[in-house]
Amino acid sequence: MTESVRKKSLMRFKSLKGIHDILPPNIYIWQHIESIATEIFRSYGYKEIRLPVIESTEVFTRSIGETSDIVEKEMYTFLDSGNRSITLRPEGTASFVRAYVEHHLYNEPPPQKYYYMGPMFRYERPQAGRYRQFYQIGAEALGIDDPKIDAEAISMLAEILKGIGLEGLRFEITSIGCKDCRPLFRTVLKDFLKDRIEDFCADCKRRYEANPLRILDCKVTSCIEMRKGSPHAVEFLCDACKEHFERLKHYLSLLGISYAVNPELVRGLDYYTKTAFEITTKLLGSQNAVAAGGRYDGLVEEFGGPPTPGLGFAIGMERVVSLLKGELRKEDVPDLVICSIGQQASEKGLLLAQGLRSKNLLVEINYEGYSLRSQMRKADRTGARYVIVIGEDELKTGTIELKDMRSGGKNKISLDAEAIIGEILKGKAG
Ligand code: HAM
Repeated sequence: MTESVRKKSLMRFKSLKGIHDILPPNIYIWQHIESIATEIFRSYGYKEIRLPVIESTEVFTRSIGETSDIVEKEMYTFLDSGNRSITLRPEGTASFVRAYVEHHLYNEPPPQKYYYMGPMFRYERPQAGRYRQFYQIGAEALGIDDPKIDAEAISMLAEILKGIGLEGLRFEITSIGCKDCRPLFRTVLKDFLKDRIEDFCADCKRRYEANPLRILDCKVTSCIEMRKGSPHAVEFLCDACKEHFERLKHYLSLLGISYAVNPELVRGLDYYTKTAFEITTKLLGSQNAVAAGGRYDGLVEEFGGPPTPGLGFAIGMERVVSLLKGELRKEDVPDLVICSIGQQASEKGLLLAQGLRSKNLLVEINYEGYSLRSQMRKADRTGARYVIVIGEDELKTGTIELKDMRSGGKNKISLDAEAIIGEILKGKAG
């Protein structure tokens, strides 16, 4: 095989279907979102937690639910060399609760509030807004029953989305009850479906006995049509869930959050209790949820921890980014490009750049092998604010010309870091 054929055959490698690279300048939007979220989490007392990307498969099957679409169809699961079943996390809450119990975080005074950012993996059919590797910013708050914390989390989410620059979002909430009121709803729902279940898809038929609530989440058009008019969980709440929901609505109004109760709202994960919510936009077609979450009061116990209420949400990064695209492209441009002629001048440039960068300036230098003309052309292309050229004369006299690329003005100053920093900062302030 010739070298060029070998190279060509290597270049056919592409990222996997539904999995994308995030490159500049798009990455600046990502960083912007992450920094706004981090700031807001801080003001609400949420601490960062970094969780592994892989877990024992059981972490997800136990919590998300054996009959959920995620567990049945969408998990990246494989056996490792030790014959253990491992899964790439399809979401963050299960991993978080595993870590919460493993490290006895429940011993800290409640509420225990954490946030995380990172990639999740679901083997879904890729389409706009739906990927196989996607990123979430998630938050979880544990140890508090009071619906004030539900309202506070939703309000924090609203602040993040507004801080990022998103508008026109719809906040939908509902309550899906708890282990006390769910059996009644399950019975009523099964009764409603009884006479028509034979016409539903195979998944729904299977789930009718195992977990009929999942039928409400089926995406098959004929199933959606046939379940029209079905009862809603929010109509069958026990007194405690009813009170929790009423108080949540009161606190949301108090905090100025406009919301709509959507009794049809169903979450695709089994661990939810009471509060469930979704933030949607009209601008993204069918993948319209930019963030979603809810309460999961039984999950910590499910993982062997003490009874602990909890709730949280996750923002879908790609969906948020696609709403912002084009509005926020901030490419970093160099404050200074140092051009040089000759070995000695180039070394002086290397040293000078080190000093300037330690003062937080973005500085580019010349590497061997480029003519002054091509260095100047490159400097121009970067959009740099200032350029200097170091040659034999400059080294001898210890002075340089600082060229302001914006105004075209030139300023003779001494060839040392302090003088250059002084001028650049003056220019930045002006
Ligand atoms: P989720 O509704 O499965 O909830 O996902 C949250 C958000 O992640 C969705 O609203 C959407 O924006 C984004 N998302 C989900 N799947 C994809 C995909 N395939 N491609 C692109 N974006 C996607 C959870 O994951 C829960 N863990 C949220 C939570 C935290 N509940 C309590 N705490």
